[in-house]
Amino acid sequence: MSSYDVIIIGSGPGGYVCAIRCAQLGLKTAVVEGRETLGGTCLNVGCIPSKALLHATHMLHEAEHNFADMGLKGKSPSVDWTQMQSYKQSTIDTNTKGIEFLFKKNKIDWIKGWGTIPEAGKVKVGDDVHDAKSIVIATGSEPASLPGVDVDEKVVVTSTGVLSLGKVPKKMIVIGAGVIGLEIGSVYARLGSEVTVIEYLDAITPGMDGEVQKSFMKILKKQGMEFIMGAAVQGTEASKTKAKVTYKLRKDDSEHTLDADVVLVSTGRKPFHDGLGTEALGIELTKRGQIGVSDSWETSVKGVYAIGDVIEGPMLAHKAEDEGMAVAEVLAGKHGHVNYGVIPGVIYTHPEVANVGMTEEQLKEAGRAYKTGKFSFMGNARAKAVFAGDGFVKILADKETDRILGAHIIGPGAGDLIHEVCVAMEFGASAEDLAMTCHAHPTYSEAVREAALACGDGPIHM
Ligand code: NAI
Repeated sequence: MSSYDVIIIGSGPGGYVCAIRCAQLGLKTAVVEGRETLGGTCLNVGCIPSKALLHATHMLHEAEHNFADMGLKGKSPSVDWTQMQSYKQSTIDTNTKGIEFLFKKNKIDWIKGWGTIPEAGKVKVGDDVHDAKSIVIATGSEPASLPGVDVDEKVVVTSTGVLSLGKVPKKMIVIGAGVIGLEIGSVYARLGSEVTVIEYLDAITPGMDGEVQKSFMKILKKQGMEFIMGAAVQGTEASKTKAKVTYKLRKDDSEHTLDADVVLVSTGRKPFHDGLGTEALGIELTKRGQIGVSDSWETSVKGVYAIGDVIEGPMLAHKAEDEGMAVAEVLAGKHGHVNYGVIPGVIYTHPEVANVGMTEEQLKEAGRAYKTGKFSFMGNARAKAVFAGDGFVKILADKETDRILGAHIIGPGAGDLIHEVCVAMEFGASAEDLAMTCHAHPTYSEAVREAALACGDGPIHM
């Protein structure tokens, strides 16, 4: 048994970042993690492995579609799935070992095993009970299942199983046109699978700017993905090698079925806090089953905090990281803060899709007077030079004050471009501030400047 200032349960981006910051601020810190490797869902079965597959298959797409036009002739590469899987694994390994190195460097103890909280101030792992002045729950989330759908992680899979399929399926059905479905769907579409997405709503990526939704769907269709919209999946029936999905069209209640070799269930995730003993401890939950927290991330039990996917808010690694740093500062007696109004979202398809702040739909609903500056990547020389003219940047600014309220980008490098708008928003900048900032030529970032110019006297290249 040992005594700590802080014990963090869970080593995903929320937990490990929190631990590093706690240690840097002089707190004696330990992290409880039951997986074989650190890094949680993100590093082991989420963000990182999916990015490896997205990168590899994007390279394949470039070879198949754009190499010849650039004068790069010859046979397109063939897919060695086993090698692609080991590339993916090596990406996971370097990242998870990287966290282990950072733990050693910062003298953070890794308590291996699954933790429970028998009482405030105590964390039990196996037979050992450790003392902690503060406890941070950072146990993340797990895929939410659908009634009538039995996941076997072989034929009917979640975001975990889909990363390690035995082979590339001929036909794949994706249930849910959210972030996971579209990222993974596009990986397999590029590998040659026939991908059909079945979505309950009439638009893809719920909550995103309407114009981006439409443009994104058009681009994905052009890439070969098919969509059945307004369809509620009723259930699946699976054998060892095939599955059948039954869905009802909302417009006329008619029932249909579709066959596939693999079905990906990507209909959302739910907070994971099983086995922690939260109920016995009296930790209050929200109506949606998240752990309820105060402004300083403290639960209803004094000295027990929670961050990341297990609490309210977008289920994003970087939101968890920010909360991890902020709660560390609170525990060290400083002032931790997260600006929830400036949390970017990125979908790592090709082109990428990124957003921050409010959408036009939200502004309209709030009755806020705003103006729109839009610029197409077709007017960006760099994008055109690399076959990436699809998409646009849209900046929304207050009609009176010109203060930036949101930005929505679909196009090359959108996931990086969005951050100059995030920084601008953190500083309360106006669209004119962005527009008057010199941007290097030729870069994709000029499209952001042009959209900002479009909020004022107009863009130059359109
Ligand atoms: P999601 O919430 O983004 O999308 C789920 C979709 O499934 C929705 O469009 C919903 O309408 C649809 N749906 C629900 N029930 C259905 C039914 N019975 N039939 C047909 N469609 C149905 O969920 P997703 O993609 O599983 O992602 C989970 C979480 O993980 C999200 O919060 C997401 O932000 C996060 N994530 C973020 C990533 C990123 O930032 N790049 C990558 C992966 C996950």
